[in-house]
Amino acid sequence: MIFDEGATKRLGIVTSLLELDEQDTFFMFVNEAISRTNLEVFVFDADDLSKDDSVFAKRIDRPVTYEKRRDLGERKVMMEIDDFDLVFLKKDPPIDASYEYLLKTLLKKGITTVNHAGGVLKMGTKSYLENFPELTPKTFYSKTIKKTLESIKSVGNSMIKKSDSSGGRGVRHIRYNSGNFYRYRHGKEILLSEEELSLIIKKYLEDSLDKTILIVEYLLSASKRGDKRVVILDGEILGSYIRLPDVKTGVCDCLDNGAKFCDPNEADHDITKVLRPHLKNHGIGLAALDLLVGKDGVEYLSEINVFNPGFCNLDVVHPELNIKKKIVDMLCRKL
Ligand SMILES: Nc1ncnc2c1ncn2[C@@H]1O[C@H](COP(=O)(O)OP(=O)(O)O)[C@@H](O)[C@H]1O
Ligand SMILES: [Mg+2]
Repeated sequence: MIFDEGATKRLGIVTSLLELDEQDTFFMFVNEAISRTNLEVFVFDADDLSKDDSVFAKRIDRPVTYEKRRDLGERKVMMEIDDFDLVFLKKDPPIDASYEYLLKTLLKKGITTVNHAGGVLKMGTKSYLENFPELTPKTFYSKTIKKTLESIKSVGNSMIKKSDSSGGRGVRHIRYNSGNFYRYRHGKEILLSEEELSLIIKKYLEDSLDKTILIVEYLLSASKRGDKRVVILDGEILGSYIRLPDVKTGVCDCLDNGAKFCDPNEADHDITKVLRPHLKNHGIGLAALDLLVGKDGVEYLSEINVFNPGFCNLDVVHPELNIKKKIVDMLCRKL
């Protein structure tokens, strides 16, 4: 493909178009990006990159809606990965073989990415929280079935998490009480044998990128209040709100269960201050923290989202922030 040289820069957005939720910020950001005269915008997925570094990308020159996302296939163009001036990574975990290959290729070629590909590999699993024991609820990090079972016994009421899960898919509420393990379904407590639990743990350990499982103290107030999502742009808080949990499970899953106002407070700024050097060192320009409230009213750090931080509802509760403009301005600054 031949491009006009000049001030125009090529922005590649990496995402799995067909797996996106309707409320993914992708739609907002891509439509803002195409409105900028200095940007040519392309979308591709990790498996659109071939071993010879060519990329089968879709050129976006008209607004994309959730309903029309399938129609983009006709405007495919063959490019070289080096053709992109900036690559915006907006793809959910886990990192499969093709995504790992893309991240490593971007690193090898020195192509500017938001977030930094190496930083995503470093900070992209929940195990990174081990750096912040003072900010998280009581948490054990385990690489074996034995240690996981012992940790659940010691915590009692726990949430177990696959370290590279997302959208609530790799988390389970497990309780140990008087010699028995229990799981929960639609608010009902169900007895779980040690063998059944060991199988769940085995699968989580095998499937996760760093073969780690987290055993986290279960915060009862978290499932009532919901997650506070704090969005951080270039080290500063862009805004925050509460993500409401699913009424049946008490978990904030990938569905949109609604949002509530909850502006940043001193505790959020304190947590951000601790994280700031880590985000900076790893080139994480855009992150979203999940904070859960304990019964003592303290906000605990539960997750640092660096892959494809979702915060569409920040636009709903605070349209005046104009988040799409701020994010695309940030991308343009990196060009
Ligand atoms: N310690 C906890 N106590 C109670 N609920 C929790 C706890 N940790 C997570 N949850 C619930 O599970 C959801 C998913 O957990 P999270 O760690 O954010 O993983 P992910 O969003 O990657 O699936 C949270 O949004 C929250 O609703
Ligand atoms: Mg989360």
